[in-house]
Amino acid sequence: MPDNDIYGKMNRKDDHINHALKYESAYNSFDDIELIHHSIPEYNMEDIDTSVCFAGHKFECPFFINAMTGGSQRGKEINRKLAKVAQECGLLFITGSYSAALKNPDDNSFRIVREENKDLLLGTNIGADKDYKDGIKAIEDLNPLFLQIHVNFMQELIMAEGSRNFSKWQENIKGFTENIKIPLILKEVGFGMSKETVRKGIELGIKTFDISGRGGTSFAYIENARRNNKFSYLDDWGQTTVVSLLSVKEYMDKVEIIASGGIRNPLDIIKSLVLGAKGVGISKAILKLIEENSIEEVIKTLDSWKHECKIIMCALNSKNISDLKNVKYILYGKTKEFTEQRKL
Ligand code: FNR
Repeated sequence: MPDNDIYGKMNRKDDHINHALKYESAYNSFDDIELIHHSIPEYNMEDIDTSVCFAGHKFECPFFINAMTGGSQRGKEINRKLAKVAQECGLLFITGSYSAALKNPDDNSFRIVREENKDLLLGTNIGADKDYKDGIKAIEDLNPLFLQIHVNFMQELIMAEGSRNFSKWQENIKGFTENIKIPLILKEVGFGMSKETVRKGIELGIKTFDISGRGGTSFAYIENARRNNKFSYLDDWGQTTVVSLLSVKEYMDKVEIIASGGIRNPLDIIKSLVLGAKGVGISKAILKLIEENSIEEVIKTLDSWKHECKIIMCALNSKNISDLKNVKYILYGKTKEFTEQRKL
């Protein structure tokens, strides 16, 4: 990256991209779930409807590109490519945290995705450390369908230059829910959510949660890698995506729960929907695709993923997403142990 661009020489956002691409989680909770197959089908492939509804919108595709980047030259190029892919495939695309653009009005690494793709299904993202007025600015700039509020508590604690002040977060979240007119999603960043977290979020007025669990990107690993691995024993902090989904089961009908964290393929997407998720977010797996392939190749891959979701649903005798909730499954290993001890 040139020294003289508006983003400066050293950029945290670029560090995140580099370390995220390097990291492979040793354990993924989706491997602990087995779905029960049916041998006598009920539906034709053309009958299968993969559409989902959450945050006030219907989406034809059950998976989406979750928050990642913006705020650097490289982030801008990645956003441009991801937005193009999303527009072509009819996928929802969510930018990374808008706070970089709030600090730097010349930053167009976020706005460019809207400027270049007028019909893009777009969401944006901001931290719970911010005031709702910052959220209003992001909404005015990007005209998104909804706003994600990320809670990246553990990331901040491990980050050498991270925040140490958290006592305003609840008040800030309440400010968002009371003053922002478009739908909001409270979102983790890969550490998972417990039922206690969801209960608190509901008290603060949140109606949609992305439980973003452990198993894919680890921001503990990333921030440790940025500070010479000082706290590397914390790299596996948090709850997995499957455990988080199972933990918040009692809230599935009261609020909307979205899954993300460690989604690798269409089977992980369908497993999330079987566990009650209303939609499925993917970050690292799509970042890797866009880094290693041409835009056309990624469009082909993700179009195939949409088709593969239909194949798996057909194999499970599920005509639509709500049928998937009736699919039986077996849990193994650490996930089984966790659910037994937490008495879900
Ligand atoms: C992220 N993530 C993220 N989340 C968020 O709410 N705001 C953000 O700005 C970012 N930035 C970001 C950068 C990069 C490079 C990655 C890989 C991820 C977290 C992301 O949305 C997601 O919650 C986790 O990455 C877990 O999903 P995956 O990566 O395992 O699919």
